[in-house]
Amino acid sequence: MTTAVKTWPDVHGRFGPYGGRYVPETLVAPLEELEQAYAAARGDASFQRELDELLRNFAGRPTPLQFASRLTEHLGGPRIYIKREDLLHTGAHKINNCLGQALLAKRMGKRRIIAETGAGQHGVATAAVAARFGMECVVYMGTEDMERQRLNVSRMKLMGAEVVGVNAGSRTLKDAINEAMRDWVTNVRTTHYLLGSVLGAHPYPQMVRDFHKVIGEEARRQILQAEGRLPDLLVACVGGGSNSIGLFHAFLDDASVKMLGVEAGGRGHQLGEHAARLAEAMGFTGARPGVLQGTYTYVLQTADGQIATTHSVSAGLDYPAVGPEHALLAEQHRAEYSAASDAEAIDAARTLARLEGIIPALESAHALAALIARAPRMRRNEIVIFNLSGRGDKDMEIIARFQRRFEALGRRGEMGLVAFITAGDPSLQATESFVLALDEAGADIVELGVPFSDPVADGPAIQRSSERALRAGATLSGVLDLVASLRRKSDVPLVLFSYYNPVLQMGLERFAGRAADAGADGVLITDLTPEEAGDYRRIVQAHGLDTIFLAAPTSTDQRLARIAEASSGFLYVISRTGVTGARESLPEDLPALIRRVRRVSRLPIAVGFGISLPGQVSILGGLADAAVVGSALVQEIEQASSVNAAREALGARVRVLKHAGKAGMSRREPGA
Ligand SMILES: Cc1ncc(COP(=O)(O)O)c(C=O)c1O
Repeated sequence: MTTAVKTWPDVHGRFGPYGGRYVPETLVAPLEELEQAYAAARGDASFQRELDELLRNFAGRPTPLQFASRLTEHLGGPRIYIKREDLLHTGAHKINNCLGQALLAKRMGKRRIIAETGAGQHGVATAAVAARFGMECVVYMGTEDMERQRLNVSRMKLMGAEVVGVNAGSRTLKDAINEAMRDWVTNVRTTHYLLGSVLGAHPYPQMVRDFHKVIGEEARRQILQAEGRLPDLLVACVGGGSNSIGLFHAFLDDASVKMLGVEAGGRGHQLGEHAARLAEAMGFTGARPGVLQGTYTYVLQTADGQIATTHSVSAGLDYPAVGPEHALLAEQHRAEYSAASDAEAIDAARTLARLEGIIPALESAHALAALIARAPRMRRNEIVIFNLSGRGDKDMEIIARFQRRFEALGRRGEMGLVAFITAGDPSLQATESFVLALDEAGADIVELGVPFSDPVADGPAIQRSSERALRAGATLSGVLDLVASLRRKSDVPLVLFSYYNPVLQMGLERFAGRAADAGADGVLITDLTPEEAGDYRRIVQAHGLDTIFLAAPTSTDQRLARIAEASSGFLYVISRTGVTGARESLPEDLPALIRRVRRVSRLPIAVGFGISLPGQVSILGGLADAAVVGSALVQEIEQASSVNAAREALGARVRVLKHAGKAGMSRREPGA
């Protein structure tokens, strides 16, 4: 079986039943011209020589195969090697294919290159080769992708490409491909369509794969040199499927080498919430064989054949179809396909950054998330190659959850809502369902209070909830397990809000490591000032967590500056002297306090203590970036007759407060 797979596609561009050429008649002639030109180039040693030279000197091949010693140690499972495609020029594997196709276009006498792009990496690589060859370049990109991958839009423009925003459909990759195909139909004589993945009509899936085969060929040589044997498992993410097939292909005949392709599990299993086409075994349904954009393959679609919308935090994986060769590999069980959620991918990205000093593209982070999940079930003498398809600069705003939330709020002109509840009241399991309800109702950040026996800064409502949680057996360790469990289900930024002693007793290093592994975003210690913090800040920040400190009305300007300097993520400004607790009005000197804080810090400001009413949130909208609501929510939990009733009450309360925050921002003072 495996020998046969490696010889696909047949002369009609078929991978078993998949692939083929489903296009309007106008495109048949250019596709045949391309097929012939490619066949001629493939047999021409001078083409290969020129491509090799460009791959070496322009793109930076061969890429290293790095042993990831700290990741290996951390996961305690197989020996993990990283194929560093992120080190290529322009930051991803995409350049392999762009160089091949651009050379081909030159041979065909085409002066104009068009392309589509999702994450922008293919667009950037296309813009770079077009500049290198002096060709005109137009890149189509969905407007949603332009927004979330802004850095790459600027890079393309700087290299002389025209970036055309596509506002149709889901405003993502699928719609960009539609526009590029329309352009190609119109301008076929002068234009080469430089398709960016193993998608589309024959010969694209074959040709793009061939240009990426070099990844696996190098990796095969490198692992044999490093370990003297073949790997047990290959892991790569699957958008259209080009980096994964590029790694897999050289190993297809090696029956002992297993392969895992990882798709985007998005934020849920329902159609529209993910982009998992082949991961049916994980409960993702909705994909069936069908035709999209030139090829017969697995497509996410409705019962009557309309193409479904998809969701992924990762623009490069956010596409309803998959390369036809993967459909065949899945059907033959030669490769296995799974999915990682948005939240798991973001966490995996942070883990790699922390442990290996490499910030991965969120696309590649999906593959790492699946590997992290699998590693504990593997033996220590097994060997894994993980394809790091790209680097994560483009995703920095998304990986840093606080920054992303506050920037999105700013763009929408909306006031943020930080929801505080005590973890473990009435049980950790109930808290999990409360956080999901808060997230769904629109809370922008959730603060999880770690219960403490002596909560001196808190008023009666939070004191009582802390006692209930302790009676129910909640511990710091249990709260950290809760965060880990939540992270599998939600991407909402999470702050651990604790008194110092439980953290001190766990040990700073152990606490920070566990909190970061669990997927927390920040830590706020109520009774810790920057002066007493000692190594706390260094240790917590070294684990990639933000340290949030409290600023109070009684803080002098000098202390405010010190607090601002020690804080990251956002600043928590206490609105008044006294303990937490819902109150009727906001203190009159609050605007002056916020102005004093703004003078010393550019961090977003969340204001808390005593906020419970929509009117207060609305007024704060003119002053701060977010309101923290705690006691009012904790009281909802206390007064509800059941966990279900509490969940509903929390959701309803957050929706009302969020609504007030939207209205309030329209009155925001200029410069506030
Ligand atoms: C870094 C990176 N990895 C992976 C992908 C997914 O594409 P493919 O499945 O074709 O490798 C993209 C797509 O934009 C990407 O930019």
